[in-house]
Amino acid sequence: MNILVTGGAGYIGSHTCVALLEAGYSVIVADNLCNSKVETIDKVKQITKKDILFYQIDVTEEDAVDKIFSNHDINGVIHFAGLKAVGESIEKPLTYYYNNLVSTMVLAKACQKHNVKRLVFSSSATVYGDNIVPFVETMNLLPTTNPYGETKAMSERILTDIAKANPAFSVSLLRYFNPVGAHESGLIGEAPNGIPNNLMPYVTQVAKGKREKLSVFGNDYPTVDGTGVRDYIHVVDLAVGHVAALDNITEGVHVYNLGTGQGTSVLELIQAFEDANSVEVSYEVVNRRPGDIASCYADASKAERELGWTAKRDILAMCRDAWRFEKNYEE
Ligand code: NAD
Ligand code: UFG
Repeated sequence: MNILVTGGAGYIGSHTCVALLEAGYSVIVADNLCNSKVETIDKVKQITKKDILFYQIDVTEEDAVDKIFSNHDINGVIHFAGLKAVGESIEKPLTYYYNNLVSTMVLAKACQKHNVKRLVFSSSATVYGDNIVPFVETMNLLPTTNPYGETKAMSERILTDIAKANPAFSVSLLRYFNPVGAHESGLIGEAPNGIPNNLMPYVTQVAKGKREKLSVFGNDYPTVDGTGVRDYIHVVDLAVGHVAALDNITEGVHVYNLGTGQGTSVLELIQAFEDANSVEVSYEVVNRRPGDIASCYADASKAERELGWTAKRDILAMCRDAWRFEKNYEE
């Protein structure tokens, strides 16, 4: 089975390529490298000792995408390619709407033209907005506070409508919670450009001495210790979740939360990181970050029931693997 992985050079995509290759799938990656490096593809080959085809293309370009579908007998698509920085999406809404929506439509069109019936889409827990936790797939989606989040809700809607009109089309919408950690080889992981927006890469950079201290955004939320609570999921578990989604994909649209079901506060994550790695993480509490919600964690039971998938790695493993990658990583 040949799987086209868009955004396969990125953080979650590269780990998913490893999981796919290990599960016996052949992988073709399409990535424009706007937020990744081609060396990551070599690292995936090194980890798996398997080959991988790589096209450096922009997935919003219909002709370039069409060529890949013409050159290969593609059995399924996993669509990771997208821009994901929430703050940047507020500054550059058009860039985000264009990139994230046009890429989804170009791929759906190519699937129709070339009779490819399986598509797995990277969505986000952000589509739940400020619902009451735990988030369940059947909840009404609430407005998100930024264009990035809107592109996820809109892409879900576009793919749902296409699947409704084409009953043979199988679409799996995967709502990720907070992916962290890295492959245990330490060869691939999360390497954001510039100042990290997300908690774990910021923590690893403080531990490494690259940044002075972490700002904890608010300690007056209605949570266990006042800091924000999230459902952190090891990126390797998330990657394996994609293989489960592909293996079990059926006609129609199916939505799955990919999370652990466990909430962890910012202070708990700092403590876990210090315990797992015997390093200190300096921090100070500052004001809340606009747009943040207090708590976000999954009801992860549907994926277990229908895909036979659950996350296996705990918060200590996430902290250990994130730190191993950061220590190894040279820019
Ligand atoms: P990433 O930036 O590491 O990977 C995205 C990849 O897509 C990059 O390699 C980038 O170069 C590529 N890309 C972007 N636009 C492209 C285009 N038009 N054509 C070709 N390639 C393009 O991000 P990630 O964390 O691996 O996220 C993957 C997907 O999962 C994204 O769609 C993201 O929105 C979604 N997601 C991520 C998180 C998270 O916290 N990391 C949470 C929920 C959902
Ligand atoms: N936080 C800090 N300091 C930092 C960074 C984050 O205290 O320097 C806190 C946040 O306030 C929040 C928690 O750590 O309480 C997690 O924040 P992240 O930025 O790591 O993650 P978010 O939950 O805000 O958002 C992430 C992705 C989104 C995705 C969402 C899905 O960035 O794209 O998870 O749940 F949609």
